[in-house]
Amino acid sequence: MNAFTVTETWGHERFMSRCLELAVKGAGFVSPNPMVGSVIVCDGRIVGEGFHQRFGGPHAEVNAIASVTDQDVLRRSTLYVNLEPCSHYGKTPPCSDLIVERGIPRVVVACRDPHEKVAGKGIDRLRAAGVEVVEGILEQDALRLNEAFMKSHRRRLPFVALKLAQTLDGKIATANGLSKWITGEASRREVHLMRSRYDAVLTGSGTVLADDPLLTVRHAEGRNPLRVVLDRELRLPPDAAVFGPGAKTLLVTSNSAGGSLRASAFRDKGVEITTAGEINGSLDLSLVLRHLHERGVLSVLVEAGGRLSSSFVREGLADKLYMFVAPKLFGGDGLSSFAELGVVSPGKPVMLSFRETRCFDGDIMIEAYFT
Ligand SMILES: NC(=O)c1ccc[n+]([C@@H]2O[C@H](COP(=O)([O-])OP(=O)(O)OC[C@H]3O[C@@H](n4cnc5c(N)ncnc54)[C@H](OP(=O)(O)O)[C@@H]3O)[C@@H](O)[C@H]2O)c1
Repeated sequence: MNAFTVTETWGHERFMSRCLELAVKGAGFVSPNPMVGSVIVCDGRIVGEGFHQRFGGPHAEVNAIASVTDQDVLRRSTLYVNLEPCSHYGKTPPCSDLIVERGIPRVVVACRDPHEKVAGKGIDRLRAAGVEVVEGILEQDALRLNEAFMKSHRRRLPFVALKLAQTLDGKIATANGLSKWITGEASRREVHLMRSRYDAVLTGSGTVLADDPLLTVRHAEGRNPLRVVLDRELRLPPDAAVFGPGAKTLLVTSNSAGGSLRASAFRDKGVEITTAGEINGSLDLSLVLRHLHERGVLSVLVEAGGRLSSSFVREGLADKLYMFVAPKLFGGDGLSSFAELGVVSPGKPVMLSFRETRCFDGDIMIEAYFT
């Protein structure tokens, strides 16, 4: 990294924060691309800004550069961007070429792009043309903002977040399996917003049978994610709400059930069916995730009951947890959020690290990462 003073670092962080603020505006619209914001600074002042607004549209740097009309100003400016400028022809020409062409002398980048076609080549291209590049400003924030994009490119698997709503005593349903309205309206709105920002929302047959959820975005603005339902034996009724209109649904079932007569009733409704192998009598979740990655799904929000949620954790496939907690008690007979985790030694629990706590009217939402 280049040597620069404390004042310079503070200035860099201030302008990079603005890039991150702009980048978030693309949430829910740019996937499978990353969220990117860019600002152009001349003589210590922001003179131009832009962000990646929708998949297939111009990149953040292109929009920021276009917002500056005086070409001489560009030749004295620093361009800030939260992700390394691209170096390849995709849906748009390379941003690093545009920066060089316009004579921008300095670029400040938060983090490198893991995309195999970029991966340092954008920065190399700039440096080779004599552009000064500063790296690593607010890098951790930038990596977290695009956590799904980063994981998808590095691990070839979607980013998986579990979302559950529980009482203060850790129950996700009463003893008779009823779970509707544990949390309040503000929490529900937040869940709908979350859905709109994930590429897919995934649930299990147990939840569909108990709650008949729609799993669409209704209490927030945004696009509907792909609905994914895991039903090994096709025990669900084809007229369940999740197979109805509103969004696309992918039904994952076992190899044997996929070819059965029952499967055609779902296909007739426009539901796509795919099959996965089994491990110990359950669908193989890593195969399910690999299939989703191959069809361009970067992020999955799991809204399932205790069984499926526990499986994701047990198999080390969950990255993050959103736990909504309502100030209510259901008592000992209620269903526990992770009842099937099977931890026997208190010295060997599943560990998470808390990231953030937010309040939604009377509820609390804890955001934590599996470590
Ligand atoms: N409060 C909340 O946040 C919340 C959220 C959702 C549900 N719930 C409540 O949870 C209860 C349902 O819980 P649940 O545990 O039965 O539902 P679930 O976790 O949604 O579904 C479990 C079912 O998914 C299928 N499945 C497929 N692959 C699996 C795998 N690898 N591992 C585990 N399961 C797999 C299994 O059925 P097959 O073998 O037949 O495929 C399994 O029985 C209901 O009372 C519901 O109201 C609460």
